[in-house]
Amino acid sequence: MSAYWLDWLSLLTRWAHLIVGIAWIGASFYFVWLDNHLDAPDDEALKAKGVAGELWAVHGGGFYNPQKYRLGPPQMPGHLHWFYWEAYSTWLSGFAMLVLVYFLNPALNLLDPARAAPAGYAGVAVALGFIVGGWIVYDGLCRSPLAKAGWMLQAVLALLLAQAAFALCWLFSGRGAFILFGAMLGTMMVANVAMVIIPGQRRMVAAIAAGQAPDPRDAQRGKQRSVHNTYFTLPVLLTMISNHYAGVSNAPRNALALVLLAAAGAAIRHWFVLRHRARERAGRTSPLTLITGLLLIAVTAALLQPPAVGGGPVGMARAQAIVAARCTSCHAERPSFPGLAAAPKGVLFDSPARIEARRAAIAVQVQSGAMPPGNLTGLGDDERAELLRWARAP
Ligand code: HEC
Repeated sequence: MSAYWLDWLSLLTRWAHLIVGIAWIGASFYFVWLDNHLDAPDDEALKAKGVAGELWAVHGGGFYNPQKYRLGPPQMPGHLHWFYWEAYSTWLSGFAMLVLVYFLNPALNLLDPARAAPAGYAGVAVALGFIVGGWIVYDGLCRSPLAKAGWMLQAVLALLLAQAAFALCWLFSGRGAFILFGAMLGTMMVANVAMVIIPGQRRMVAAIAAGQAPDPRDAQRGKQRSVHNTYFTLPVLLTMISNHYAGVSNAPRNALALVLLAAAGAAIRHWFVLRHRARERAGRTSPLTLITGLLLIAVTAALLQPPAVGGGPVGMARAQAIVAARCTSCHAERPSFPGLAAAPKGVLFDSPARIEARRAAIAVQVQSGAMPPGNLTGLGDDERAELLRWARAP
């Protein structure tokens, strides 16, 4: 397929991914909110029916009264709504994006010769190993005796995920590592829905339809996985946007940044979950987890600050010469680099004015080593230092 049509495919897939991702995470946020706001019913008739919690809400000009049953309703209703296509289609479109952006042309975005992963499709195989292997290890741990003590499982998971973050950053380009970490977590989340939560719910529905009591273990397992999904959500969303911020994803300490920011996301999510239940504590929520999350972000930003650049001034003519030699094979109206239909992100370096206008962006990209990707055009260390001195001149 030509680069032009690939671009269209990529645009449409990304659009679809965003839409279904919003539908999935939106529903997930809503149900966590719902679960945490339920009050025990006062009405004796509701209690007798097995309703454990209910709430009232107003939205879009209508009044709603959702009720949650302890295990299930006495009889199955005529029509039961399920929530899984949002999750499945988010994974399918996300995997398609991974193939289009990272796997088809691994040298451009996934790999970096300065990192340890093998070149070409062997590198893609290692990436796939993380996505599949991540689920196998995670699922095994959730089914192991470790899961009896929830906090122990969470601690082991956090440790293993931190190790995976370091391994990914050691193997892949910064943006490749960040997106793979997100893809790994996202795969666990969707597989939790497909392999644990939905099959459990199907068994519960079948039991109720047969007039039997559903197995409470199915409800517990589903709950365990959906709690994990709640804490994975913000870290995954961060990795999805991280490829726009090479100053973070490609920084020398990018693995530490990934771990700290993921922890910050989980902590901030925890604060939201606590806040939902504030009614139980007369409306008060401890700000501790929120402050922890924000502090982690501040520490990361401080740690990643690039060092000052030394040396004399570098003129525009020299900067332009380096850019012409090392950047314009891609950043031109008609890029000569194979596989590019147009200047990436519309970034053109065909005149001094255009180069000047991008000074700040060039500083970030060249400092972090994100550009040229995988140093495909062989920007020398001296040239990089010179370009940086020009770009970061006060
Ligand atoms: C091999 C092709 C290639 C070369 C060579 C290249 N770039 Fe890029 N550049 C890209 C691609 C692809 C993107 C878009 C990345 C993305 O999707 O976020 C990009 C994006 C950028 C951006 C925009 C970043 C953003 O997130 O908005 C800047 C600035 C940039 N490059 C600067 C440079 C500079 C400076 C050089 C030379 C030192 C250079 N590039 C060399 C392919 C290249």
